Amino acid sequence: MSLTIALSKGKLLPGTEALFQRAGLPFPPGDSRRLVVPMGELRFLFIKDMDVPTYVEYGVADCGVAGSDVLLETEADVLEPLDLGFGHCRLVVASPAGSGFTPDRTATARVASKYAKVTAAHFLGRGLAVEVVKLAGSVEIAPGLGLADCIVDVVETGRTLAENGLEVIETVAESSARLIVNRASFHARRDEVQRLADALRRASR
Ligand code: PRP
Repeated sequence: MSLTIALSKGKLLPGTEALFQRAGLPFPPGDSRRLVVPMGELRFLFIKDMDVPTYVEYGVADCGVAGSDVLLETEADVLEPLDLGFGHCRLVVASPAGSGFTPDRTATARVASKYAKVTAAHFLGRGLAVEVVKLAGSVEIAPGLGLADCIVDVVETGRTLAENGLEVIETVAESSARLIVNRASFHARRDEVQRLADALRRASR
């Protein structure tokens, strides 16, 4: 039976493909719309980034590639043996540029985010009450349209924030792509998982 690897169709995909190619591992052709793709000794699942840890935790996939931002949010019970060295970005609090807005104790701020748990924990840790508005994406438009006072979202180049009139107030967490492994697979399929991890570790240097 081949090892099953869960990958996100989002921002980490190009870096994941480049890493697998450097590692000499098979990787599905980019023009396919198939979501379950057997390739030699590996089988690939292409799913939403927030679902990757779930597929690995439940053992549907033996391994996966997920951002540490997503791992923070999902709190999945998976092993995380390797920082893959790409997909670097930050989770930040951002508000309308020039507004000087920052959540404080005088009022309950509304904060829009895909990262509802991380957002709630961040402000709770600072002793601030906020109302978290959970969105599925395009979070940057929320303050300008009056849905939220500020956002917590991922910044890579900063272009999306800038083009939507937002600026960073503070960093919540740094993130990068991680190899994640199902706990049972790590033991039951130790040799195959180790071979994969070793090949990715060498290629990620
Ligand atoms: C992510 C993130 C930002 C953007 C940041 O969005 O949510 O919107 O990338 O990148 P930048 O700093 O380089 O502009 P993604 O493309 O994953 O889509 P989403 O809006 O659905 O989250």
